[in-house]
Amino acid sequence: MNKKIIAFIVGAVVIAVGCIGFFVISSNNNKTESNNNSNTNTTENENSNETQEENTNDNDNNNGTTNDKKVAIIYFSATGTTEKVAGYIKEVTDGDLIEIVPKDEYTSADLNYNNNNNNSRSTKEQNDSSARPEIKNTINTDHYDVIFLGYPIWWGDAPRIILTFLDSHNLDGKTVIPFCTSGGSGISSSVSYFKSHYKNVNFEDGATLNNGEAAVKNWVKGLNY
Ligand SMILES: Cc1cc2nc3c(=O)[nH]c(=O)nc-3n(C[C@H](O)[C@H](O)[C@H](O)COP(=O)(O)O)c2cc1C
Repeated sequence: MNKKIIAFIVGAVVIAVGCIGFFVISSNNNKTESNNNSNTNTTENENSNETQEENTNDNDNNNGTTNDKKVAIIYFSATGTTEKVAGYIKEVTDGDLIEIVPKDEYTSADLNYNNNNNNSRSTKEQNDSSARPEIKNTINTDHYDVIFLGYPIWWGDAPRIILTFLDSHNLDGKTVIPFCTSGGSGISSSVSYFKSHYKNVNFEDGATLNNGEAAVKNWVKGLNY
């Protein structure tokens, strides 16, 4: 073989090896890039899923029962029925439970509405629109946005001690959600009185809660405050 032919074959082999090398390297690069891309996409997707999850959680926290508003359940209860209901409301709202304690406790004689002479303490108070029985404890309402206000119905109305509470606390601009227990009478006439006498307070219509724990909790969960 002459020298020219040998030089040609060597040159062709070098070029061929060079081309194969180039293709191998460039195809590896492409693979790496595409791997990188798919990694980036996966990470981005994961991140965006996390963000959505975070948002979903945020939304969960914005439902009617667990929001940023500060809640108190303030109640008067002479024989424990309204107190029990107040406890159910606390379980749902996680608000602060505050009892309105009368300075002079009501005895069973005081509460006797069957007294024929209409002269039991409770009956006399309800018959006197200016009666304001004293409250024993100090109640600070300043830092609450929403107040559930509970009481038994006495002669169709809120006990006068509830008016003592409303007269002596500035609830202007706050949301007040009344609730009551009773032997059957409804809450509406007491709420009408509140709305017409404490005009700067945002009274909601409230509810008569005589139907047990589940009904109370469902009512609270359905509120949007
Ligand atoms: C003085 C007095 C008056 C009452 N008047 C009414 C009334 O007008 N209508 C009614 O349905 N229940 C009436 N009740 C029943 C109470 O509203 C009911 O027993 C209530 O659940 C008691 O709540 P408490 O245990 O939290 O005090 C009266 C009870 C008392 C002691």
